[in-house]
Parts: sequence; structure tokens; C-alpha cells
Amino acid sequence: MDIIKTKAQMQEWSKKRQRESKTICFVPTMGYLHKGHISLMEKGKSLCDTLVVSIFVNPTQFGPNEDLASYPSDIENDLALAEKAGVTAVFLPTKDHIYPENFQTEINLKSLPNFLCGKFRPIHFSGVATVVTKLFNIVMPDIAVFGQKDYQQLQIIRQLTLDLDFDVKIVAGPIIREKDGLAMSSRNAYLSASQKKSALSLSKSLHLARELIAKGEKNLVTIRNQIEAFICTFPETTIEYVSFCDPETLEDTDSIENQILLALAVKVGKTRLIDNALIDPAQ
Ligand code: PAJ
Repeated sequence: MDIIKTKAQMQEWSKKRQRESKTICFVPTMGYLHKGHISLMEKGKSLCDTLVVSIFVNPTQFGPNEDLASYPSDIENDLALAEKAGVTAVFLPTKDHIYPENFQTEINLKSLPNFLCGKFRPIHFSGVATVVTKLFNIVMPDIAVFGQKDYQQLQIIRQLTLDLDFDVKIVAGPIIREKDGLAMSSRNAYLSASQKKSALSLSKSLHLARELIAKGEKNLVTIRNQIEAFICTFPETTIEYVSFCDPETLEDTDSIENQILLALAVKVGKTRLIDNALIDPAQ
């Protein structure tokens, strides 16, 4: 497994693979790898000749009161996991290398960031879109794999790929969960044992919504109220949003005629957790 630290070396590596007619799959991450990340790597490996993973805690996607300084990191373990997953190259840039002095450009989307997490994290998706654009230009992949765990991020990446004419196919991977239902996340490392129990309120809410819809409940406001009341029964929870929305535009919906996205953000103690599910009321 190659470990690459500079943009020039990464681009040279990718150009060499292109000259050899090898396809490149890319999985961008912020490290502290878990089975969710590994599942994306496994998917990627099956789609291309080579697999590049980036590990970079992108400062521009963290707000001033967020957890940039404490974001968990274990590079040694990440490299061992990547090697075991069959990764061909890991791109490990430094912050100054990605954002040199006098860096000025930002990628902003007009609509998708205005909903869900974007309402609570105003600069987040601009940071994500900017760094992913840069990473696409540096790694030059044929395919990039993103998790549905960050559904809004996935939609934003799909849109920017289309808008900026990147010749990159975006592939989505399903949410990988612990046995008890908790969606895997690097931030789960912040949770105490009792907070982990409260964190189950998210995945259980998704089940509750499905159950209510299966029983014939058609009013999404009623369902949302029940979910909010349910989450509040778990200690240390603060709801940021419980939203039923259109899976393409992310606009709020009150109709269960078509597929809907139920997306949640809940703070457990100080840790912000998200989860979501696509629900097909017809089924
Ligand atoms: P990070 O949170 O490290 O996630 C990297 C990728 O792993 C994302 O595509 C995310 O959706 C996916 N992922 C996380 N948890 C998952 C789970 N439980 N199941 C399946 N996939 C999961 O997302 C980022 O980093 C950053 O915003 C990044 C795109 C790297 C830009 O900085």
C-alpha cells in the first residue's frame, strides 16, 4: 500500500495508473476508520482496478463551536485497517498543503445545503463541497464512493459532480450499523455507555416511523410529533431536527404518496448524531 502525502505525488500516481489503463476508485474519509468506511472500500475495490482512500480532517467543514480540535484520530490503526481492506494508496495530506496561505475559493450550492444539517451547520457543506472538489482534482478517480449515512452530503456531491462536469461516477453505500442498530460513526467514540443507550433513540425512531406508516398512519406531522416525544424519553437527548423530506430536493414534505426521506439529528450530551432512512409508504 502506497502512502502519499503531497498533491503532486498523488496526481502523478493517478496519471501513471491512467497511462496503464487502470481504473481508480476513491473513498474520501476523515479517518478514525470503522466498518462503515470499510464497507465503502470493499464496494470500491469491487468496482475498479485500484482503490485510493484519503484521510484528512477537513477544517473548513467544522463550525467555530464544533469538534475540530477533538476529532478522534488513530492514523496507525487506520493504515492497518486500510491495508487489510486491500487499499492501493492512502492520501494523507496536511492542512497547510490542502489550504495554502491565500487560499480563496469556495464551492457553494444554491439549494441543497439550505435544509436539514445545513440549517444548523451554516458553513459545513461549503467546506465539504470545496474539499471534495479539490480531492477529485488531486486523485482524479473514475468512481467515488460515499455513504448514505450522510445523505445530504451524498446529494450535494452528486449535484456538484453534475454541475462542475466531473467525469466521476458517484456510488452510494448503505448505512452500516452496530448490532443494536446504532449507525456507525467516528463520533460514537465520544459516547459514554449510558449515552450509547440514548443514541439508540435515532435508529429506533426510524423503526417507529416505519411501523406507524405500515399501520396506516398517513399524517407525517403526527408521526413526527410521536418521534419527537419518543426521543425525549431518552436521557441527555436534544433534538436538532426530525424531518420528512423529498429524497432528491431535501425540501420538507407532508405527502406519503412517493418515497420519502426521514432524517434526524439529535445531540446526546454534547455529541451530535445523525441518521436517516428512505421510506417507501407503498411497501
Ligand atoms: P467521514 O465522516 O470520515 O465519512 C467518510 C465516508 O464514510 C462518508 O461517505 C460517510 O457517509 C461514510 N460513512 C460514515 N459512517 C458510515 C456508516 N455507518 N455506514 C456507511 N458509510 C458511512 O464524510 C466525511 O468523512 C467528510 O465529510 C468527507 C466526505 C471526507 C469530506 O471531508
